[in-house]
Amino acid sequence: MLKMVGMNRTTVNSIRIRRLAFTLLVACSTIAKANDYTVVPEQFIYCTTCHGVELQGNRSVDAPRLNGMEGWYVRNQLLAFQQGWRGTHDDLIGMEMRPQATILDADGIEEAVVFVASVPSRPSPQATTSVGDSTRGKALYSTCAACHGNNAEGNKLLNAPRLAGQSDWYLHRQLEHFRDGIRGTARGDINGAQMRASIAVLPGPRAIADVVAYINSL
Ligand code: HEC
Ligand code: HEC
Repeated sequence: MLKMVGMNRTTVNSIRIRRLAFTLLVACSTIAKANDYTVVPEQFIYCTTCHGVELQGNRSVDAPRLNGMEGWYVRNQLLAFQQGWRGTHDDLIGMEMRPQATILDADGIEEAVVFVASVPSRPSPQATTSVGDSTRGKALYSTCAACHGNNAEGNKLLNAPRLAGQSDWYLHRQLEHFRDGIRGTARGDINGAQMRASIAVLPGPRAIADVVAYINSL
């Protein structure tokens, strides 16, 4: 009988200990999460010199906003720079980024993905640097929505990134690069080629500014 009670007590105690451990674990991981960004890992401080301390982007060095970017897309692009799909031939701005990606090994890429994901997404009011007609842009965007989503939220299954919240000057430049074959023409760049084919539907010189003005309003 006594033995039984003892066993029960042990069981109860072990449940208590497990609960306590679980609570501590949750508390610790919350603290770790909150602290993730207060310390930028030393190996990635250099990313912030161009992309900004909060990875908010820096137009003066052409570096786009990274905070809030989907991890799978960050990985795809770091690989695209490594492969030379971006940042070679006429892509002078991409050339600034390419060496930053080529120094990373496979583990380094995964660590960079984790680092970017650890930085809180901070949508900032978008400065309108690209002047276009968002009403016309809305009509043009209907073809884009098939891949990028109605609210430009992105679609992982189609490898199409979120566009909402990205700086308009950056979107504008990428669309010009796809149009001019600076991006999306390299052999092996299947995602880029799909995107390049899609931009062919944009009619006339004003269309890029118009569609970007609409995305900027989302
Ligand atoms: C010397 C400045 C510089 C540094 C350092 C730098 N980048 Fe970049 N990065 C750029 C520029 C400029 C672009 C835009 C290239 C373009 O317009 O095609 C870019 C583009 C990117 C993109 C593509 C974004 C998109 O929307 O397609 C990713 C992802 C990226 N950088 C991640 C990083 C990471 C991670 C680091 C650190 C490991 C880093 N960058 C360091 C300048 C830099
Ligand atoms: C068939 C699917 C598809 C359609 C339709 C499409 N896109 Fe894309 N888009 C993609 C994919 C996939 C990528 C990623 C390319 C890569 O990985 O380099 C992309 C990339 C982009 C980028 C680069 C984002 C960045 O951060 O570098 C922009 C800007 C963009 N698309 C805008 C548009 C606009 C505007 C339209 C409509 C005119 C459109 N897309 C239509 C699939 C599509």
